[in-house]
Amino acid sequence: MADTTEAPLRLHALAYSLGISAAVTAAARLDLADALGDRPMPVAELAAAVGASEEALGQLLRALACHGVFRETAEDVYAHTELSRLLRGDAPGGRKAMALLAGAPFAWRIWSRLDEAVRTGRSVFAEEYGTTLFEHLHGSEPELGLLFDQAMARSGEITAAAVADALGLEDTGTVADIGGGRGILLRLLLERHPGVSGVLFDLERVIAGADPALCEGGALAGRCALVAGDCHVGVPVKADTYLLKGVVHMWNDDLAVAVLRNLARAAPPGARIILIEQVLDATATPEIATVMNLLMLVSQGGRERTRKEFAALFARAGLEFGGIRATRSAVHLVEGAVPGH
Ligand SMILES: C[S@@+](CC[C@H](N)C(=O)[O-])C[C@H]1O[C@@H](n2cnc3c(N)ncnc32)[C@H](O)[C@@H]1O
Repeated sequence: MADTTEAPLRLHALAYSLGISAAVTAAARLDLADALGDRPMPVAELAAAVGASEEALGQLLRALACHGVFRETAEDVYAHTELSRLLRGDAPGGRKAMALLAGAPFAWRIWSRLDEAVRTGRSVFAEEYGTTLFEHLHGSEPELGLLFDQAMARSGEITAAAVADALGLEDTGTVADIGGGRGILLRLLLERHPGVSGVLFDLERVIAGADPALCEGGALAGRCALVAGDCHVGVPVKADTYLLKGVVHMWNDDLAVAVLRNLARAAPPGARIILIEQVLDATATPEIATVMNLLMLVSQGGRERTRKEFAALFARAGLEFGGIRATRSAVHLVEGAVPGH
């Protein structure tokens, strides 16, 4: 929408942008991007392929195309765009699983109570579901838990390469990825650095679904330990470099400090602690970081942070703060160390 569009219409569009979100999720659920090949397809053919009403599918495609997801090449004929291709299940770095997760019923329920989260400063998840997000994902809705892990793994593919490029591991013998999910980043690091060993630490159910290359019999198993645990209880892992990617933003300052202290207790003096997060006052994509900031609040009581806030977090946890470093993706490396080297 052009900046010259009158303000009431711009706000109207913002208020109804939840419809765009719903449209992206609907396209993912209908497997629309998977059904469309390299040649443009008439809506009628697409509707038959995905089992949809031709007229209604035309309405969905028109809305999506307005935002660059699919494009109309002739009347009622659609082709892929760069964005719509990322809704294919097989797209490297694709966002199909993320689109399914973003528009899952639990997400609509908690977003609808954002005002309450803002009033109280707390997540509304526990009130809605009687438990925390991760207990819910691993308990009542395991298929949603799998989708979460898949979404993180797929969307992390491109970020992992950018992080690996930015991260020097020359002086590292062992690197530990805390809350490392299925191990996409750790696998890449071990492949690139044959002299380095790794530890993947995450909740039990996530470790059970770790990347096969890291598991017993896998190509990297000899250099990788899989450790299941809860970092709120302790982080029983010894390494020279600890990575926490997309982890600390799930927690408020008190919980984040407690986890960093758990980590510092286990780590040798001088160990590097590197958080990999969006940094609110340094990001080139504030429109994503600021929405993730709200998602962390409403879902887990967490938050994205500024450089100054990260420095304060490290100080409270008794860690040295070493500054932030950009990667060629949306995340920064927030670097620190355990004192006493
Ligand atoms: C947002 S995901 C990030 C995953 C991965 N680091 C990435 O960037 O793709 C957060 C990860 O933290 C893990 N996690 C959540 N709570 C945890 C806890 N209490 N102890 C250990 N891991 C936890 C989740 O299972 C999940 O894999």
